[in-house]
Amino acid sequence: MTHQIKSFKEYQKIYKNSVRHPEKFWAKQAKTFKWMKPWKKVLSGGFEEADVRWFEGGQLNITENCLDRHLKDKANDVALIWEPNDPSQAFKTYTYKELYSEVCRCANMLKSNGIKKGDRVCFYMPMVAELTIGVLACARIGAIHSVVFAGFSANALADRIKDCSCKMVICSDYNNRGNKSIAVKEIVDEAVAKDCSSVETVIVYKASNTKVKMKRGRDKWWHKEIEGKRKTCKPAKMNSEDVLFILYTSGSTGKPKGVVHTCGGYMVYTCYSFKNVFQYQQGDVYWCSADIGWITGHSYIIYGPLLAGAKTLMFEGVPTFPDAGRFWHICEKHKVNQFYTAPTAIRALMAQGDDWPSHYDLNSLKVLGTVGEPINEEAWNWYKEKIGKNTLPIVDTWFQTETAGIMISGLGGLSPQKATYAGLPLPGIQLCLLNSKGKEIKGNGKEGLLCIKYPWPSMIRTTYGDHARCKEVYFSSFKNKYFTGDGARRDKKGMYRIIGRVDDVINVSGHRMGTAEIENAINEHPNVIESAVVGYPHKIKGEGIYAYVILNKNKMDANIDTKKFNSSLLKVVTKEIGPIAKPDKIQIVTGLPKTRSGKIMRRILRKIAAGEAKNIGDVSTLLNPDVVKKVIRGASKILVNN
Ligand code: PRX
Repeated sequence: MTHQIKSFKEYQKIYKNSVRHPEKFWAKQAKTFKWMKPWKKVLSGGFEEADVRWFEGGQLNITENCLDRHLKDKANDVALIWEPNDPSQAFKTYTYKELYSEVCRCANMLKSNGIKKGDRVCFYMPMVAELTIGVLACARIGAIHSVVFAGFSANALADRIKDCSCKMVICSDYNNRGNKSIAVKEIVDEAVAKDCSSVETVIVYKASNTKVKMKRGRDKWWHKEIEGKRKTCKPAKMNSEDVLFILYTSGSTGKPKGVVHTCGGYMVYTCYSFKNVFQYQQGDVYWCSADIGWITGHSYIIYGPLLAGAKTLMFEGVPTFPDAGRFWHICEKHKVNQFYTAPTAIRALMAQGDDWPSHYDLNSLKVLGTVGEPINEEAWNWYKEKIGKNTLPIVDTWFQTETAGIMISGLGGLSPQKATYAGLPLPGIQLCLLNSKGKEIKGNGKEGLLCIKYPWPSMIRTTYGDHARCKEVYFSSFKNKYFTGDGARRDKKGMYRIIGRVDDVINVSGHRMGTAEIENAINEHPNVIESAVVGYPHKIKGEGIYAYVILNKNKMDANIDTKKFNSSLLKVVTKEIGPIAKPDKIQIVTGLPKTRSGKIMRRILRKIAAGEAKNIGDVSTLLNPDVVKKVIRGASKILVNN
């Protein structure tokens, strides 16, 4: 298994070597896995054509490394713990042997339903164990999984199904989250009815006792289909660069992109980063509270931990059900050793008072992690003090759907820590800061655009069906660099602090969203003629969504009922994308500040949304400088939605 660093000194030495001899370094890590055929070349291609390949010529199956490889000495060790939404319901555990059998049974079920290597299978499921099983079953037979977060709307789901023409959708009947029960199957029916002609089969996992409609010939029950299936299934021989999965993420333009990851490099990097960042020791219980619908769940609930032979916990519910002590209750109940969550969750729980964690025994905890968005100092300190009792290390891990694995982070307990700083790059990761002209900013104590200078094994390979877009978005801004879209500061010791996105992407509760995508949704409202969306600082969510909308003339003139309008607008956004994209603030405006070439000046709108209208600066070069004053005036009257 990949090497585990044991001291900060060792990290420093390994880092230096990994940069000096990257191929040698990654080959050494890769050798610790089971390959069906050894690779011929460690690294081929380069950033120039967005054509990077790792371990070419090699063949493997990632599930053989997640499961079969552990059967010799870990068959009866727990691999997966599933904690249900309702704490009075029993939790489930799967040993490595049991998980292996379940994955094989499911793989055989996929095969018997016509799924072959290379076919795309869409998952639209709550956090049930069957999601992990299904994902691994796809990988077992070489089918490509595309997991769509179950909070997306039918429209958003349909777009994602169509973009990669999925042959099958796997869903549940209902999604149990807190007090709510969401009719998942109905959403899938609605989505598939929107021209998703590629879908031949819908497999439905039964998570409730409520009846759902099943379409004859298309819909099948998971429990019936899996019945009697063999508990073994030969792993498909996958080339290192065969696609493992597609995961959609938002960019600065309207349409989400299908980020493609491949088998070999992803396997090596997720295992290596998992073991080192969390300093996982055999027997530990590790819990990542993310949803598998995002990259964190893919890499650090499923693949990374299982590759490392860890015990990984997945949780169906929400942090505040039945009460705000739920996370800490789970930590106590399962004696969690490494706990990994998002700053939004920390802020939300912090707001519920210091009492909640004090009711639970948190002594098993060894490492605390955060991911997904910048963590503010107050939340970092609370996490450190109230959960970590001022002794536990916090790893603030920076990465992206495109990097697939953690790129910047402390190594639990080994590295220096500093509130709000993600820290140092992982071995093999070569970072740089650039100015807007692409010149590298050398030295420490500086700020710039965060880029990566050298390929790493788990990097994005393409955006599904549109390689030119991949090249354009990530590799064309600066020659021979991968551009992250984030701004960062490097302190005197070389530690990195992520400042946030520099493009038109906002991060709401750790969910990444393109402002253009939200604008497109808002513009679907029959009374809206134009809109502009920006992020603004939000106490709990990190960033909130602020929408400026121009209504068509008739509505503008008539004294519009803003309350009614707001709620109808929220409905439209929920229908187009999902509740996560609902604006927190809506301001009706008569015009938007624009440059002479007609581009919306978001910088100005961001300042107004943040309540910093005083610092707007010179607006005289705008096409319509008068509009700014009007927008500022209106900003004091807007309604807050959530
Ligand atoms: O802006 C950065 C922020 O989240 C973006 C990536 O979002 P996504 O692809 O959805 O992946 C999220 C989970 C890895 C980044 O470009 N981000 C992620 N982690 C951090 C962060 N910002 C600050 N600190 C972090 N630790």
